[in-house]
Amino acid sequence: MSSKPAPPTGASSARPVMSIPHLLSLKHSRTPIVMVTAYDYPSARAAEAAAVDIVLVGDSGAMTVLGYPSTVAVGIEEMLMLTAATRRGTTSALLVADLPFGSYEVSDQQAVATAIRFVKEAGADAVKLEGGGSMSVHRAAAIVAAGVPVMGHVGLTPQTATALGGYKAQGRSADSAISIARGAFALQEAACFSLVFEAVPNAVTAALMPRISIPVIGIGAGPDADGQVLVFHDLLGIRAGQGARFVKRYADLQDAMNAGVAAYAADVRDGTYPAAEHGYSIDPIELARFTKTLAE
Ligand code: KIV
Repeated sequence: MSSKPAPPTGASSARPVMSIPHLLSLKHSRTPIVMVTAYDYPSARAAEAAAVDIVLVGDSGAMTVLGYPSTVAVGIEEMLMLTAATRRGTTSALLVADLPFGSYEVSDQQAVATAIRFVKEAGADAVKLEGGGSMSVHRAAAIVAAGVPVMGHVGLTPQTATALGGYKAQGRSADSAISIARGAFALQEAACFSLVFEAVPNAVTAALMPRISIPVIGIGAGPDADGQVLVFHDLLGIRAGQGARFVKRYADLQDAMNAGVAAYAADVRDGTYPAAEHGYSIDPIELARFTKTLAE
């Protein structure tokens, strides 16, 4: 850091802290729930300034900030560090941390121990895990029983994308849609406080909504979900490429970042930076004393 850290800013500092009952009341009043991913202090501050309801430290951070080719490789310690940094910038939104692949599948004990680490060590309010099969449902129930709120995630589940045939929409056949429905109902039964529907046909979401009493947050799941989530880097254009069909870009920050760093590099190379105003002065008498001492 080159200067003192700025105090947290944004319109959100006075708003009440988000709770799970309040999320439910948003669903009941049909107030759209806004969720966004964040992975560090500045992205959390941006989410707070926009007064979003839920901040998700997604394991998408494996790709967006850690440079892995998929979400599979990211480890618990890495996700804990991202979550703790995001916690420091999150004052009012509900903070949910993704349990990384391999950190909950082995046993209920492993899942509970991992979830507790995210709450105690990183300050998460809740955790999210992927899948609606019996393993995920059992792990969700065990974590809830241990006192940690759980968000489920059905449809396209990137941690097991290979088994799903790649990063593609799910629920496009009756059998696949029924499997999503079964998973969603089972996770609701397991006392998850909320669900993510990812890459699910709009009509499938619409058909399921009347049967789901907990908030459903969609990503590529249409307008009938109770809320929407997008990946921070996707919505701000902080990476190359088109992204999934459901991504809407609200800024082109990768271009802005590239241009800014290129302008800085050019200024250093041609001597434009630093200019006089970027330097510090010293009293001429002190400078004379200093150079005299140096010469002795
Ligand atoms: O990891 C992530 O960012 C997610 C969202 C896409 C829901 O799971």
